[in-house]
Amino acid sequence: MPLDRRDFLKLGPAAMAVSAASGRESAAQPQPASSLPFAAPPIPLVRIGMVGIGLQGGSHLENFLKIPGCRVTAVCDVRDVRTTWASQQITAAGHPAPAVYTRGPRDFARLCDTEDLDLVFTATPWEWHVPVMLAAMKAGKHAATEVPAAMTLEDCWALVETAEKTRRHAVMMENCNYDRPEMMAFHMVRKGVFGEIVHAEGGYLHDLRAIKFEKQDEGLWRRAWSMKIDGNPYPTHGLGPIANCLDINRGDRFDYLVSMSGPSRGLHDWAREHFPADAPERKERYTLGDVNTSLIKTARGKTVMVQHCTNLPRPYSRIHVVQGTKGMFQGYPHRAYIEGRGKEHQWQDWTTLRDEFDHPLWRELEAKAAGAGHGGMDYIEDYRLVKCLREGLPTDMTVYDAAALSAVVDLSIRSTGARARAVDVPDFTRGGWKATPPLDLVTV
Ligand SMILES: NC(=O)c1ccc[n+]([C@@H]2O[C@H](COP(=O)([O-])OP(=O)(O)OC[C@H]3O[C@@H](n4cnc5c(N)ncnc54)[C@H](O)[C@@H]3O)[C@@H](O)[C@H]2O)c1
Repeated sequence: MPLDRRDFLKLGPAAMAVSAASGRESAAQPQPASSLPFAAPPIPLVRIGMVGIGLQGGSHLENFLKIPGCRVTAVCDVRDVRTTWASQQITAAGHPAPAVYTRGPRDFARLCDTEDLDLVFTATPWEWHVPVMLAAMKAGKHAATEVPAAMTLEDCWALVETAEKTRRHAVMMENCNYDRPEMMAFHMVRKGVFGEIVHAEGGYLHDLRAIKFEKQDEGLWRRAWSMKIDGNPYPTHGLGPIANCLDINRGDRFDYLVSMSGPSRGLHDWAREHFPADAPERKERYTLGDVNTSLIKTARGKTVMVQHCTNLPRPYSRIHVVQGTKGMFQGYPHRAYIEGRGKEHQWQDWTTLRDEFDHPLWRELEAKAAGAGHGGMDYIEDYRLVKCLREGLPTDMTVYDAAALSAVVDLSIRSTGARARAVDVPDFTRGGWKATPPLDLVTV
């Protein structure tokens, strides 16, 4: 009997490696994806239902209230204090009060089935992203999610298959694609300043120990993931911007990955230093290695390093190295080296190159983005989503990007658990990456 894809996934990385070599995985897939990124008919006024209005969902809501051409007409959260807050924000902005859904963790399904919406936007904890996205698309709505889109390969495929079947957008809202230094580096790549890009590095290196132990917000769910997996649970902030520079799913694709973690110490130490001996936190057993490092090889032979480190004391960094045959960009602090310009062997601070290479989106939207979440990049991200839906354009990130970047969660876990064995990255585009044009410099 031929294996269907889900049986196939259950067999794990070894089967994938064998099967990829024999071409069996692709034989089990449906039709190849179209080479043109999906675009839906234009929507003059985008009606949005928001699911999960915590810290990040609240910040997106504030953006949508400022962006022309959209309305938040329904809100859903398991905590009615948050839907009440959201309703107040919406009416204070002069819009009609939204429909409210607060009947528990699956009430988003009622929102998707009942409301007349164009887009369902979820900023729930990781485990809820896929259920909300699937319910939205099956009810005929476009779907957008906070990062990562999915935590398993199976769920990555479910997003791809459902988006294709329902012909709806499934967008992963990777805000780091829109930060000013990353966008400037992308602009420089598109102008050919760094030559051919051959290597890139990214990561999420952020001391989250205090946040993970809070009795509210992310403390209620994020630490739990540190007790059940070892790998990289949050790869997309680092991968998103470099995937654009490397034309992932648009001329190249992630081919295979190796990953390994060091020991898990940070959360144990924090619990010992901050909680009394009989506190339940002191009995928790963490599995997530404090530093996880993955290497990815692309089909065109390029290399990517992506790292995760959220349990140790350290300054914030997303690394952001983009290296080519004529120079490179490196983040934290942001700087560039361009052969033949500036002093040999010395970095140029990125601000000295901004007049020439600042991304047009930042030039035009800087004032409007001022004060919005994460230095303004979240506003620019939300602005682009609404604009693409209103004008019937392909979204900047496709469902294939959501799947390829999020798949690194599951693949890093599999490789870490198998002595860093190489695991194949599924081709979610089913060959479509070869003919899909590169992402252009998007505009206002
Ligand atoms: N892109 C970024 O920079 C960034 C920053 C922070 C968080 N995030 C992402 O945003 C998401 C939410 O993170 P957060 O910091 O806002 O967490 P949070 O805990 O503050 O918010 C989550 C919200 O979802 C609600 N919720 C939980 N389960 C629900 C369900 N089944 N149905 C409806 N509502 C539900 C909670 O009550 C809460 O209000 C996560 O995916 C996280 O990774 C992204």
